[in-house]
Amino acid sequence: MSGPRIVVTRRLPESAIALLEETGDVWVSPHDRPLTVEELHAAVAGADAIVTLLHDRVDGALLDAAGPQLRCAANVAVGYDNVDVPAATQRGVRVTNTPGVLTEATADCAMALILMTTRRFGEGERLIRRREPWSWHLFFLLGSGLQGKTLGVVGLGAIGKAVARRARAFGMRIAYFEPQPVPPEIEQELEARPVPLDELFATADVVTLHVPLTEETRHLVDADRLRSMRRDAYLVNTTRGPVVDEAALADALRDRIIAGAGLDVFENEPEVHPGLLELDNAVLLPHLGSATIETRTAMAELAARNALAVLAGESPPTPVNALP
Ligand code: GLV
Repeated sequence: MSGPRIVVTRRLPESAIALLEETGDVWVSPHDRPLTVEELHAAVAGADAIVTLLHDRVDGALLDAAGPQLRCAANVAVGYDNVDVPAATQRGVRVTNTPGVLTEATADCAMALILMTTRRFGEGERLIRRREPWSWHLFFLLGSGLQGKTLGVVGLGAIGKAVARRARAFGMRIAYFEPQPVPPEIEQELEARPVPLDELFATADVVTLHVPLTEETRHLVDADRLRSMRRDAYLVNTTRGPVVDEAALADALRDRIIAGAGLDVFENEPEVHPGLLELDNAVLLPHLGSATIETRTAMAELAARNALAVLAGESPPTPVNALP
């Protein structure tokens, strides 16, 4: 069918493609891998809307390769650090993302990493798979309990709050750092205490990161920050890899500057710093935060609805930028 040209840079759930096909002339990348920059630029030429994933660099060069008719870049992710938003705004391109639908799945992933690190479940699983002999005894793979401990939430947005709710159910106290105002009813519900960032890192038993990747948050957790943490503290990152200086973290974990870390994201995905691979006190997941069938379907459908709304001249459900 003919209609606006919609370019989808990687396979999406069928329901989202079906939505797009109701209106558009849809091209979906046939590759089971990210497109190279050259492939991406060739694929988007002439597109009216593009549906992109977090590994696609949507910058001025890509927008120019698409052409002046491009109206929407619909990112299938809540994070949009892969998109040069000012470059899009300048060219009259609406950028959208997929907040909300992945909050609970990502919070589940953060909670799982909190448990896997503090209770050493990853280590236990690896030990069995190595076929090492073991027997139950009172000192075997002792972890650290969560009850009465403090979770330091860096960024009390939707995902930060969802993690805090889960942690409360595990008996944790909540301290948080959030530059935006937090409504008093949320503080009351979570019995959450605002603290300066330095104090949060210096005092929390577990620090969990929920800030977007921006120039300000790049390497927010560096060697100094890690040294400011307690030696028995844990770090969990489910946002974007570059928020943490991965080499500094590998050193800190090796030298037991902190007790452990749980990571779902990495600085140069899919690469993982080799130092981390050696360490038993690092739990490493391949960016699975939103990886449930329900959530990925909802993300793709929301991205499709965003693209279609822009093409219809309507306001998209979840815009990132406003156009003059
Ligand atoms: C996934 O990492 C997302 O930003 O949605």
